Amino acid sequence: MYEVFISSLNPIKTVAKNVPIPTPGPEELCIKVIATSSNPKDWQFPHLFPSRRGNEGDDVAGIVHSVGSQVHEFHPGDRVAGFHRMGAPNGSYAEYSITPSVSTFHLPSNISFDAGATIPLTAMTAAIALFQHLMLPLPWQTLHASLPKYGPLLVYGAGSTVGAWALKLAKLVKANKSLGVGPIIAVAGTSSLDLVRSLDAADYVVDYKKSDVVAEVKEILKREGVLLRHAFDAISHSDVRTWESVAPCLAAEGPVWLNLTDPPEEPVNWPANVIVSRVFVSGAYGEYDPDGFRSHEDAARDGEFSYCMYRYLARQLKKGTITTHPFEVMERGLDSVAEGLQLLYEGKVHGKKLVYRIADTPELLNYAEQTLVV
Ligand SMILES: NC(=O)c1ccc[n+]([C@@H]2O[C@H](COP(=O)([O-])OP(=O)(O)OC[C@H]3O[C@@H](n4cnc5c(N)ncnc54)[C@H](OP(=O)(O)O)[C@@H]3O)[C@@H](O)[C@H]2O)c1
Repeated sequence: MYEVFISSLNPIKTVAKNVPIPTPGPEELCIKVIATSSNPKDWQFPHLFPSRRGNEGDDVAGIVHSVGSQVHEFHPGDRVAGFHRMGAPNGSYAEYSITPSVSTFHLPSNISFDAGATIPLTAMTAAIALFQHLMLPLPWQTLHASLPKYGPLLVYGAGSTVGAWALKLAKLVKANKSLGVGPIIAVAGTSSLDLVRSLDAADYVVDYKKSDVVAEVKEILKREGVLLRHAFDAISHSDVRTWESVAPCLAAEGPVWLNLTDPPEEPVNWPANVIVSRVFVSGAYGEYDPDGFRSHEDAARDGEFSYCMYRYLARQLKKGTITTHPFEVMERGLDSVAEGLQLLYEGKVHGKKLVYRIADTPELLNYAEQTLVV
């Protein structure tokens, strides 16, 4: 089969190899990939770990080819989407990919393979951040009226795919009035405002490119007469230091929770009442965070959570109560992966995922013929 590996950086280049179709482990599936998509980590990881030159694709949408001996809910021929184990062999930039069954779900018939390929990694990042770190109540819970309400939630970087998923999930929770979630405050850039508003999730949208975010958010909180105790920074790179616009909005007294997608590389003097955590999406298949933000026990619980959440998301997608992220299909299938990753690296992708259809790959036929000859 055809598989694409990153071969060099600056600019990003890929090389295609003809390799055998992989065999799933006991708790894994081998999926015939119909569509895949790129994530920022696909270029970030090879930069961070220069010896790493692998197939970095992690988002899979396709048809089950074979299942491991312990897999009970999937069968060859099923329509699925899944999150490949990051850094492991047999990623999604290939004709066939391996996913853990825990991070794989049935793709509803109303969701195309292209759209399905945009879901697994980013949706679960937002879900783990909100529910496992920021303790947002689950949408289907009913809280007794005497219990304290959750209150406002700030999502910084709501124009990113992860941020947009956070808003969509928070909207489902807010709809359950017993949980007392809100107002929801979204911070996004000018070019993402239409996307963020179209989600109809945020009560307030602040443009970080045109306003003083801290002053504007504080003004909103004052007007609403509420204190901010939960914030998700979906960007949080050390080069943009977004948390500097988030931390000052949090309540000055009493415990407050701030979750980041990436931990600062430099030491930060957080106020004593801020409980800082980093979301680690590998928890989706139960992997602990070597940087210390998620222990083995936490990770096991994240895996149980993700198993349930993927299935809940599939149900909401089917019902139409949640939508997928906008996407652009790249022209040359897997042969466009290098171009897509270079665009992500240069920060030129706004408000959409980049999707690759395997069948669009021009070289595929040659490799298939070679496979037959072999
Ligand atoms: N820890 C984890 O497990 C984990 C998992 C997934 C992702 N991540 C990280 O989370 C980040 C977001 O990932 P993604 O897939 O959602 O990326 P993405 O969809 O490619 O996000 C791109 C968007 O980010 C927004 N953005 C960029 N710089 C910003 C800034 N300074 N302030 C506010 N918004 C900014 C831009 O929106 P505007 O147009 O609004 O400016 C841009 O359109 C990436 O750094 C990724 O590596 C971490």
